[in-house]
Amino acid sequence: MSEQFWWAVARSGGILAWVLLAASVLWGLALSTKVLGRHPRANWLLDLHRFLGGLAVVFTGIHVLALVFDSWVEIGITQILVPFTSDYRPGAVAWGVVALYLLAAVEITSLLRKHLSRRAWKATHLASFPLFAVATLHGVLAGTDADGPLVVIMTATTAVVVGLTVLRIGQARSKRARTPVTRGRTRPPIEPRKMTNA
Ligand code: HEM
Repeated sequence: MSEQFWWAVARSGGILAWVLLAASVLWGLALSTKVLGRHPRANWLLDLHRFLGGLAVVFTGIHVLALVFDSWVEIGITQILVPFTSDYRPGAVAWGVVALYLLAAVEITSLLRKHLSRRAWKATHLASFPLFAVATLHGVLAGTDADGPLVVIMTATTAVVVGLTVLRIGQARSKRARTPVTRGRTRPPIEPRKMTNA
């Protein structure tokens, strides 16, 4: 097999993994901000969000495996799991390792959602934001193709993600401001009715 083959698979796998990750984050934000409309959520919309995330995991696997088979860079299990152990662009690759752990945490807790409390699932699912940031940084810094149109696409996508995130935070804040705080407070004692002789 040509020497260039696995390098090409690694690069295209990495780019596809990033595109799918970005699509999953954007789709999730579109659903939670309701920018697509206020209609009740159809199940297939949520399924599509999950499917994109799952496919991102598959292509990340292809990306990393192809790097192992490639002979131009020395990437093995240690370089995949331990940051700063790669001789090739150690800092840039370290961001990829961090992204891998975050992706694993988000995907595993999504699959186990039914067995987790909503609070635990949500706390982990919010790791999708640092995951997207770290994967983007890794793609820009480690990539061979990350100097032309890919960087423009990554920057534009990041701007849309940031915009929708700000909108989501604003919506959550105004919802909280409208909800009266009742938790933890005891009801005021009911005053006894006055007896009237009428
Ligand atoms: C969520 C996980 C990951 C995503 C989304 C991702 C994505 C990407 C992207 C988009 C590129 C740029 C490809 C290019 O422009 O040519 C890239 C390059 C690279 N990644 Fe990853 N990556 C991930 C995890 C990892 C891990 C764990 C490693 C550990 C070894 C790694 C090692 C590399 C290397 C060595 C390159 C340079 C390849 C090149 O020059 O094209 N990546 N990655």
